[in-house]
Amino acid sequence: MVTAYDYSSSKYADEAGIDTILVGDSVNMVVLGQDSTASLTMDEEIHHCKAVAAGAKRAFLIGDLPFMSYQADPVEAVRNAGRLIKEGRMDGVKLEGGKRVVEQVRRIVAAGIPVIGHIGLTPQTLSELGGYRIQGKSSDDAMRLYEDALALQEAGCIAIVLESIPAPVATEISERLEIPTVGIGAGSGCDGQVLVYHDLLGLFDDFTPRFVRRYANLKPLILDALRAYHEDVTKREFPAEEHTYPMKDEEKEKFIQEINQYDIF
Ligand code: KIV
Repeated sequence: MVTAYDYSSSKYADEAGIDTILVGDSVNMVVLGQDSTASLTMDEEIHHCKAVAAGAKRAFLIGDLPFMSYQADPVEAVRNAGRLIKEGRMDGVKLEGGKRVVEQVRRIVAAGIPVIGHIGLTPQTLSELGGYRIQGKSSDDAMRLYEDALALQEAGCIAIVLESIPAPVATEISERLEIPTVGIGAGSGCDGQVLVYHDLLGLFDDFTPRFVRRYANLKPLILDALRAYHEDVTKREFPAEEHTYPMKDEEKEKFIQEINQYDIF
């Protein structure tokens, strides 16, 4: 699984053979420049889901339910999950939380919408967790995560994202669940992995979590290209002959005559 937020990134992920594309609420940070995921609205998420759906032919598409689009009321959760499917053209949805969102999961699943859970470090409730901290470090906390995972499985989730938890905890949970786990900062014992598109490609450098491996560093390439373009335009070396549209000589001469006349009168 990889995140994507627009037509091109979705097309590339799809062409690369990635199984699942997540329109993560991380869009709020890496694309919209906000300092957390919390302020993302349903309309903003749907806007990006539509673009991703247009780019993917093959991958399974998951839309993230934004903060407070599902927590307050299970009925509202179903309606908003439905919007991600109908308006955003997603195949399923993801939401954060364990036992406390099982009623929402049950209702959305009952409406025929596949749901992926997300436990461990849940960025929508960062202040409650005290910031970007590893979760499940003590045995008691790890047991709570296991119970959350079981509750989500029981409620009908098709998979669970495990974020920022010690590898042995993620491995044990993955082995005991019947549904797949998708890890991010949770070690190689998970059934699948997810990374944020901009982290994977070196497009976002405000901060880089320890669990990220950069498969490319595109920022310097992009900067070089933009600087070269700026320089070429400044020196009038772009556009060159091959980038311009020609005109027949007689039409050009006629035009020059007419425009000169036009200026006189
Ligand atoms: O929003 C997101 O990108 C996510 C992934 C990191 C799992 O939730």
